[in-house]
Amino acid sequence: MFDLSRRRLLSTAAALPVSSGLIALSPGGPAEAQAADNPEDIWSHGANPDFVLSAAKHELAPFGKPIQALLTGGTWPGTTVRYRKGDQFRVLVENRLDVPTSLHWHGLIVPTLEDGVPAVTQSPIPPGDAFFYSFPLKQAGTYWYHSHFGLQEQQGLSGPLIIEDPDEPHAYDEDLVVYLSDVADIPVNRVIPEIRDGSLQVNVADPYRLSDGGPFPIDVSYAGYLVNGRPPFDPWTHALRPGARARLRLINGSGSSYFRIAIDGVALEVIEADGSRVVPVTVDDLVLSTAQRCDVIVALPESGSYALRAAALGDDKGALAVLHTPDVQPKVADRRATFSGRTLRDSDLRAPWDTVIPDGPRRTFKVVLSGNMRAYLWMMNGNSWPEPYAEFGHDEAKESFYEVQRGDIVRFDFVNETPMAHPMHLHGHVFRVLDDGRDRPDAPIRDTVTVWPKGKTSIEFLANNPGHWFFHCHNIWHLAVGMAQAVSYRA
Ligand code: C2O
Ligand code: CU
Ligand code: CU
Repeated sequence: MFDLSRRRLLSTAAALPVSSGLIALSPGGPAEAQAADNPEDIWSHGANPDFVLSAAKHELAPFGKPIQALLTGGTWPGTTVRYRKGDQFRVLVENRLDVPTSLHWHGLIVPTLEDGVPAVTQSPIPPGDAFFYSFPLKQAGTYWYHSHFGLQEQQGLSGPLIIEDPDEPHAYDEDLVVYLSDVADIPVNRVIPEIRDGSLQVNVADPYRLSDGGPFPIDVSYAGYLVNGRPPFDPWTHALRPGARARLRLINGSGSSYFRIAIDGVALEVIEADGSRVVPVTVDDLVLSTAQRCDVIVALPESGSYALRAAALGDDKGALAVLHTPDVQPKVADRRATFSGRTLRDSDLRAPWDTVIPDGPRRTFKVVLSGNMRAYLWMMNGNSWPEPYAEFGHDEAKESFYEVQRGDIVRFDFVNETPMAHPMHLHGHVFRVLDDGRDRPDAPIRDTVTVWPKGKTSIEFLANNPGHWFFHCHNIWHLAVGMAQAVSYRA
């Protein structure tokens, strides 16, 4: 049973004054909002944002058929938020939609009331209101933000969130965001009903595979894929001098896609995963699961045009971009991605320091990932989370919390009983990834870990950020039908 007092406690987050909280954008906002008669009053409430993320509806047709997009700043992906480590994050989210919204700062270690998850840490921002998010930035690296309300993320309500490191150890000449998206061209709220009644076609002739282990199952066929908002037939391009070093911040901002990424004839030097540094490793391609990021340094060896290909696993399509030297026009000789050479393996990622958590009480939980394909429900330890996606819920749905104590070293042993992959994400923390349960001192730090089909993996983190933290699969369709739990502890 859900604890109502917890809900009441959490909903008061919306009334926090000045430092963070809800602000009415126009007269007639709900009574709980602080009164403000015109947008200028935002500033008189003490909110002096560095960025205003104004969410509004737009009609786009990147693949021919019009879609209802929800965007910040009118662009796909949304407005880039860029800070330096140590800065105070001061971002005003304006809701200019006709439905509620709430933005989440994926991968950031935030105070729980700034985490942006409806029904877990805040009331959604009503239409016509704004919420001021303010907290100190303790991390550096490549992150992203996205709506955590309903299926809005799949409609484009997301964007890059970059935090530069004042002590950056790597030298590079350019710093570029490469943001990957998938585009559904049927209304997003029809996808789950169509999966359930069997009318949604997932029909792929010759899908890209992860390896030779057989086809990679996916839930939904997308109309197509974008790099920095651009489709493959009108790709994003960037000119780079031969030999210049570019840091590419690869962000998988998709709803449910896995991309295998390579640049023809260019090696990828991996320097960070999910915003955390790794011992640099050079590969020819890498796979990025939904919500993951990878930073790579690349250089174009000589004059020419080089295709950046991001093949969507399980689909026969993908995203495309072009890096070229300034003396040539960007062009793509061969549309089809083929991969050869060395692929980054999860076990290639090593932290450059000892990540062992000093002694403390240990708590280990088994987390069984399962699904019911007939009903199209997804579960963690047999539980389907009911909200904020009650629309697609069912009678047995219930909220399920892991009760831990502050100071615990918490370990989750994932067991994936399903033939699909699940990119599992924990809010408010970063974790050590223990491949196949092996604990190495240099276990890498991430915020989203892929549990491969029928696979196992373990993560471990220190419970040092009290609050209520959503813990879920980042496949938006799996999340929407319950693949979530929460971790909860007090100060
Ligand atoms: Cu990317 Cu629950 O978050
Ligand atoms: Cu998150
Ligand atoms: Cu999943």
